[in-house]
Amino acid sequence: MKTMVSRFASACALVVVVYACTPAPSPTPVATAPTDFIAGDSNLVNVASTWNRVAGPYVGAAAPDGSFLGQAHRATDTTVVRTIYARNNFVTITKDASGRYPVGTMVVKLFRRRSDSTVVGGSMMVKRGGDFASANRSGWEWINLNASGAITTRFRNDSAATGCINCHTARMANDYSFSLK
Ligand code: HEC
Repeated sequence: MKTMVSRFASACALVVVVYACTPAPSPTPVATAPTDFIAGDSNLVNVASTWNRVAGPYVGAAAPDGSFLGQAHRATDTTVVRTIYARNNFVTITKDASGRYPVGTMVVKLFRRRSDSTVVGGSMMVKRGGDFASANRSGWEWINLNASGAITTRFRNDSAATGCINCHTARMANDYSFSLK
């Protein structure tokens, strides 16, 4: 009897030891936004089918902010349709207490031929973070996309991005974005 009890006790001890030594299951890793998010072409896969559509399709100046466009964003070419998509791989896209969109926010406007939906170019804004483009304090990197939907020109500071910023300043109160809400 004594033997049985002690065998039982040592079995329990073993169970306790094994249980105690088994590492707790790791929580699903949650990606955190880097302090400086740099978007590349690998971020631009399946934009139209997997990102959130936030505005459009628009043709010409027939858009809520069309009166601002002038010659910009192919607004004078009515064979082209503009659609705006957004994505942030880390957090929900909502403005913080100071009215800024979060680091990692990517907004892409695709230009497509109306006749066959082929992408013919695009524009992009990426929230870099840190003190990127600190003069206007927005932290956006302004980018042009080519006909393959890939990054072609990065306007990496305020003076290079003057054209973009001058117009988007109309929406300074919305962190320089016309379409994000
Ligand atoms: C003359 C004004 C003007 C200029 C210059 C301009 N934009 Fe825009 N942009 C707009 C307007 C208006 C919209 C709203 C969507 C629409 O009607 O196409 C817009 C929308 C966008 C969007 C979609 C997100 C948003 O804010 O709505 C991106 C991305 C963008 N512009 C990037 C650029 C980049 C990059 C440049 C410079 C290379 C640039 N823009 C220059 C007026 C302008």
